[in-house]
Amino acid sequence: MTDTTAAVPTTTGPQAVRISAEAQRRRTFAVISHPDAGKSTLTEALVLHAKAITEAGAIHGKSGRRATVSDWMEMEKARGISITSTALQFPYKTGSGNTCVINLLDTPGHADFSEDTYRVLTAVDSAVMLIDAAKGLEPQTLKLFQVCRHRRIPIITVINKWDRPGRHALELMDEIQSRIGLRPTPLTWPVGIAGDFKGVLDRRTGNFIRYTRTAGGATAAPEEHIDPARAHDAAGVDWDTAVEESELLSADGADFDMDTFLDCTSSPVLFTSAALNFGVNQLLDVLAQLAPPPNGQLDVDGNRREASAPFSAFVFKVQAGMDSAHRDRIAYARVCSGTFERGEVLTHASTGKPFVTKYAQSVFGQQRSTLDTAWPGDVIGLANAAALRPGDTLYQDVAVKFPPIPSFSPEHFAVARGTDPSKHKQFRKGIEQLDQEGVIQVLRSDVRGDQAPVFAAVGPLQFEVATHRMANEFSAPIELERLPYTVARIADPGDAETLQKLASVEVFTRTDGVMLAVFSTKWRLEHVQRDLPDVTLRSLVAAED
Ligand code: G4P
Repeated sequence: MTDTTAAVPTTTGPQAVRISAEAQRRRTFAVISHPDAGKSTLTEALVLHAKAITEAGAIHGKSGRRATVSDWMEMEKARGISITSTALQFPYKTGSGNTCVINLLDTPGHADFSEDTYRVLTAVDSAVMLIDAAKGLEPQTLKLFQVCRHRRIPIITVINKWDRPGRHALELMDEIQSRIGLRPTPLTWPVGIAGDFKGVLDRRTGNFIRYTRTAGGATAAPEEHIDPARAHDAAGVDWDTAVEESELLSADGADFDMDTFLDCTSSPVLFTSAALNFGVNQLLDVLAQLAPPPNGQLDVDGNRREASAPFSAFVFKVQAGMDSAHRDRIAYARVCSGTFERGEVLTHASTGKPFVTKYAQSVFGQQRSTLDTAWPGDVIGLANAAALRPGDTLYQDVAVKFPPIPSFSPEHFAVARGTDPSKHKQFRKGIEQLDQEGVIQVLRSDVRGDQAPVFAAVGPLQFEVATHRMANEFSAPIELERLPYTVARIADPGDAETLQKLASVEVFTRTDGVMLAVFSTKWRLEHVQRDLPDVTLRSLVAAED
């Protein structure tokens, strides 16, 4: 794509300078990890360190931590999980006295893994890949990493739980390099093996950063910066080992490099214990110093909408039914350019209609408050957003349209059937609506007929959301019959007949007209590819191997 910035007028004068300055100090990122690697703990620790809250534990309300009241869907209440992504915003004052604004977008994990998890990654400028020191790279981390790589999102790697016995640091570096081809360039190196965490060698200054435990890790852990000459006295042979290993890394070319980091081919690495609040400061500093700020956004024609241009944003998530008292719908949009002022009227690019922003909210954990102003990189929650869909563009003054958010490769499939034949119309309407909103992807085939559309999802929770909304919102209860497929590929319509005849394979048409062939397993897919080399089967997007 060409990058013809001149095509898009920018705001001029002091306002443009202000917008650029606000964009420059923003860091919008997400944490990608496998469940249990410590994402919630790290999130709390980051906020604690940034001093946005005074007590760790006010965000997620997990067991044993301070509970937060959720007024989301009844289903969510019953299961005690958070379906939505929350966007946290907090200021962070760096050592040099500058104040960054950190926007941390939550990627739902666990059972609530869904297409939304991927969509969040369309709204960030960088990602923190959080790895459990004992487990190394795990499946969900890998899936999310592939999306980041595809979107060229720079990645900061954090090896967590270093206070517990785990694998050797060098072995973990090898695993990252060999399994995902990302060159790890450690910025810190642990002093003491996993389970005996004394601190880190700061590979940029050569200093020993010694951490001290606090009771329960409840407050920011004190850290002491000791110059190399005194480090051996402070940490003994563990220091010498760390120095030796660090020299080995340098000899191997594993020193930080900005260009390859921004290019998503290398990744700075930090070692932490989120539970003890060790290393969290360093992560905030790295985000502030190295993570890229918002840099405008390419539109559908490949022209860059500069951050200082008039307001524009794209919707990356729509959350429905959040408050049972008001059948409310919130669209989360990332600001790409300009200033957002609550109350101003925006234009919805796909319909050309005005969109009133009286009800804009910022979201902090599960608490929401009214938002008045937002800048590039910020996330705004727009209430009363029935007309907005993921991928939609909103703008002011100068028209722009951003590319649609790609749909990701579904791994779960189920036939949907209405249980009340008299609700045929509601059934159709509900399914059309859920499809448009991106709650599930809807597939059809002549074989199954229009009465039995197939829902496709990247996570099974999407089925629960769809079933709940069909019954409660559209008064068209459904039952789902799971289908034994796990892999989807884009197929050419000309091959449909051949594929349809195979066992453990089925062919569907998606609402956007794309033909999908689905397979029971990836081995079945490989088999078909071997047996029928003339049949073209393409990966959907990013999320695939
Ligand atoms: P997640 O959001 O990625 O799923 O992980 P979460 O933060 O909930 O952490 C999963 C478990 O790992 C929690 O233990 C948490 O305390 C623990 N943990 C997170 N970071 C560290 C760390 O740096 N060191 C150690 N030793 N443990 C860590 P839990 O027993 O499941 O829950 P809890 O009762 O401690 O909250």
